[in-house]
Amino acid sequence: MITCKATLDPAFIVAPVPPRLFGSFVEHMGRCVYQGIFEPGNENADGDGFRLDVLELTREMGVSVVRYPGGNFVSGYSWEDGVGPVSARPTRLDLAWRSIEPNTFGLNEFMRWIARAQAEPMLAVNLGTRGVAEAVSLLEYTNFPSGTQYSDLRISHGQREPYSVKLWCLGNEMDGPWQLGHKSADEYGRLAAETAKAMRLVDPSIELVACGSSHAGMPTFGAWETAVLEHAYEQIDFLSLHAYYKKIDGDPVGYLASADSMDNFIAGVVATCDHVAAMKRTKKQIKLSFDEWNVEHLPYIPEENQQAWEHAPRVAEDEYTAEDAVVIGNLLISLLRHSDRVAVACQAQLVNVIAPIRAESDAKAWRQTIFHPFALTARYARGDVLRVEMHSDTTIDSPSRGDVKPVDMVATRDVNDGSTTIFAVNRSVSDAALLDVRIVQDDTYTIVEHAVIGGAHLSAVNAQSDPARVTPLPSTAHELTDRGITAQLPPASWTMLRLAAPDGR
Ligand code: AHR
Repeated sequence: MITCKATLDPAFIVAPVPPRLFGSFVEHMGRCVYQGIFEPGNENADGDGFRLDVLELTREMGVSVVRYPGGNFVSGYSWEDGVGPVSARPTRLDLAWRSIEPNTFGLNEFMRWIARAQAEPMLAVNLGTRGVAEAVSLLEYTNFPSGTQYSDLRISHGQREPYSVKLWCLGNEMDGPWQLGHKSADEYGRLAAETAKAMRLVDPSIELVACGSSHAGMPTFGAWETAVLEHAYEQIDFLSLHAYYKKIDGDPVGYLASADSMDNFIAGVVATCDHVAAMKRTKKQIKLSFDEWNVEHLPYIPEENQQAWEHAPRVAEDEYTAEDAVVIGNLLISLLRHSDRVAVACQAQLVNVIAPIRAESDAKAWRQTIFHPFALTARYARGDVLRVEMHSDTTIDSPSRGDVKPVDMVATRDVNDGSTTIFAVNRSVSDAALLDVRIVQDDTYTIVEHAVIGGAHLSAVNAQSDPARVTPLPSTAHELTDRGITAQLPPASWTMLRLAAPDGR
C-alpha cells in the first residue's frame, strides 16, 4: 500500500473558496441549448420551454455561474437575431458548428433561464466577425436603465429592469486559427483593450475577461498572453484559460494525473501575468478565468467537415466513465488549490455536449458520472482553501508524465462551524493508498461523510437505461487518530471526507 502524509493547519489559508469556481457553460452547440436546456413541447418542459428536469439537476449540481452563448459560436453571432418576437427572428447558418440556428432561444430566454437556475450570467461578446460597436450596443441592451435605443428596445421586449450583468468575455479563443475572425495577438490585444474601454464607459461596474490561449499546447502559448496583456492589462480583470483532457493510449496513470497538466498551465499563466505586471510596474493583479475545462473523448465535427447542415445535431455527446469522474474530481482539486488566482471556472458544457447532464426527448434528464464529484465539491468546499503539505513514500511512473505523485489532495475549512472537508485522489491504478492527515488543531473531529467514486468498474457509465450505475459510495475505511485522520483510498479513486468539529462550531 502507498503511504501519504499530509498536514493541514487552519492558519495556512490559500484563499476563500471563490464562489464563481463552480461555473458551467451553455453554448449554441449540438444539443446543449436546443433539446438540452430548452425543448418547448417536451413533457418535462414548462411554458417557457425550459426543461424542468435539467433545471433541477443544474441547481443540484451547485452551478454558480454560466457562460453563454459561446464558445466558437459567439464569433459569428449577432445578438440582435435572438431578441424580440420569436416569429420575426431570422434562421441563420452557424458556421462554427455547421448547424442551422433558428434563434428561438436568445438573450432574454437565457436570462429567464439563468434566474431559474439560481446562477450568475457570464456573457460573451463577438470579437470575431464583429467589434466595439456591437459589444457596446449589447451592453446597453442588457445593463442600461432606459431612454436610449437599445435599452428601450429591451423594455419593448418586455424586460423593464436592466439585467446588470457583471461578468463579460471579450470574445472567445481568438488565438485559434479555427475561430471566425481569428486575430494575431497584437490585433486582438488592441481590440480587447478598446472594447473594454468602451464597455466600461457604458457600465463601469462590469468585470472583463480577455482571451488567453485556447490550450497550453498552442504554438503561441505564452507569447499570446504576454502580447494581449501588454495591450489590455489595465482594461481587463481576468485572463482566460481553456483545457480539455483526454485519455492517453497505454498510460492510464497519465490520464488520471491530468490535474498535473492543469497545475502547470495555471502556473504558467500566473507567471506570465505577473511578468507583465512587473514590466508595467503596476500593483494590479490579473486573476484567471478557467472558463472552459473538462475531459473529452469524441471529436466535435468530422474532419472532412462535410456533414449535412442540421439543427441541433448530436455533437460531442461523450458518455463518461467512473474513471472520467475521478479525473474531474482531481481537476476540481487543482482549481481549488489555485483559488488565490483562479477566480472563475466553467466546466464545459452543461447538457449533452461534453456534459455532466444528459437529456433526451423521451426520458427524464440524468446525471453522468462526472456530475457527482462536481456536485459534492460545489456543495462541501466551503470557507477557506487550506494549504496542504504532502509527502508520499513513492511515486508512480507514467510513460507520458514521468514520475507522478500517487495522491493529490486539497482541503477546505469553514471557520463558521469548524468543519473541514478533504478531497483526495489516488492516481495509482494498482495500489490502494493510506492517507494520513495531521490536523494542527486542539479539537478532535467526528467524521460526517466519507464518499468514494471509482476504485472498481472504472469503465462503468451512467447510460439512459441505467442512469445511477455510478454514484458516490459511502466508505468506512477511515480512522480518527489523536492528531487527525487516516483513510484508505482505493486505486484510481476520488474521495471526499467531511469532518465536523465536536461542538459543531
Ligand atoms: O466547448 C466546445 C468548444 O471548445 C468551444 O466552443 C470552444 O471555445 C472550444 O474550442
